[in-house]
Amino acid sequence: MTGLQSRNADGSAYGRPPQHIDEELARVGPGTPCGELFRRYWHPIAEADKVTTRPQNVRILGEDLVLFRDKKGRAGLLYPRCMHRGTSLFYGKVEEEGIRCCYHGWLFGVDGQCLDQPCEPDHGRHRDVARQPWYPVEERYGLVFAYMGPPAKKPILPRYDILENLDPDERLECARTGGQTGDQSMPIAPYNWMHLNDNVMDPYHVWVLHSTFTGPQFAKEFAIPVQSVDFFAWEQGVCYSAVRELSDGRILDRVSSYIFPCIMSVPATRNLEDARSTRISWIVPIDDTHFTTFTAGKVKPRAPLFQNVDFAGKTWAEMTIEEHQDTPGDFEAQFGQGPISLHSEEHLATSDRGIVMMRRMLRQQIKVVAEGGDPLGVAFNADQATVKVPSGNFYRSRTAAE
Ligand code: FES
Ligand SMILES: [Fe+2]
Repeated sequence: MTGLQSRNADGSAYGRPPQHIDEELARVGPGTPCGELFRRYWHPIAEADKVTTRPQNVRILGEDLVLFRDKKGRAGLLYPRCMHRGTSLFYGKVEEEGIRCCYHGWLFGVDGQCLDQPCEPDHGRHRDVARQPWYPVEERYGLVFAYMGPPAKKPILPRYDILENLDPDERLECARTGGQTGDQSMPIAPYNWMHLNDNVMDPYHVWVLHSTFTGPQFAKEFAIPVQSVDFFAWEQGVCYSAVRELSDGRILDRVSSYIFPCIMSVPATRNLEDARSTRISWIVPIDDTHFTTFTAGKVKPRAPLFQNVDFAGKTWAEMTIEEHQDTPGDFEAQFGQGPISLHSEEHLATSDRGIVMMRRMLRQQIKVVAEGGDPLGVAFNADQATVKVPSGNFYRSRTAAE
């Protein structure tokens, strides 16, 4: 019996006990349990073509940093407060070899190495031991990834099989897909990363929120109730297989994947061809109450990476408050959970099995990290750093299914 029930047998809202967030999972700052787990993985922080010689502020996992590209083309990610007397490198100027602080001209390479101290004798006799705090970055799939964990534990930046080996008519595209509004109008979602992460293993909301409550926002097949849903752990996370029987007698098996710790591969949502998923989306916590997303995918002519979600003929940004109420989507449902959901007052039910599995996996891996081990999915050998993604929309005939 919950505290709420014991206090008020009639269900009155009066005298409710205080509720709380899941401290272990929700917080991602330095030194927090989940923050330390997340710091053992690479996270995308920007689209590569948006990283230029103009320094930009970025906030990732609760840390403020400055991102730039030096004139040799190398991306750099530095702690913003200059090690000399603390002004921000946001006001620095990028040169061939790094970024020069505006105040007294100390120059730092993309690895934080101090290369020049122009006001000091001999340009800084001890400049070689001066180092601005920095994080390593690598570029792949059109994105810049950062590793913000212990240097000795830096894994190989993973590859995903569905983003490799392009056909001649395919190309790879990436985008900052941002908040969950469906129209890229909100680069940063103003709520906790878990709200979207939980949504990844939630096939039932596809039927309710995206189909029957609002009217169809995605494929018409989603309005058919799922016949069975199987959640299963795989070597990189959790998957679900949601099976529907279509009116033409075929069986649609929709397989969606949660890739540990905060990555998803959701199969196509408009045109449900019999095919594997072609895209990966990363949920990137900005801090405890904000996140953004990046998506990379294989794109064919006339099949863009990103299509606006249609809300009764409007994009999300064009809608009135009343229209947000009448045709809510992922943003409304997840924003409606608050800045960080009060997990202690949740009532997880049988439809939440996948969420329970994901959270259990996160807790297990937090423990692995706390005990000095290497968490799920990190690879230190390039041969083992390609993830085989199970996602896709798969069809079979009814007889084959029996
Ligand atoms: S504060 Fe940066 S060089 Fe002095
Ligand atoms: Fe959704």
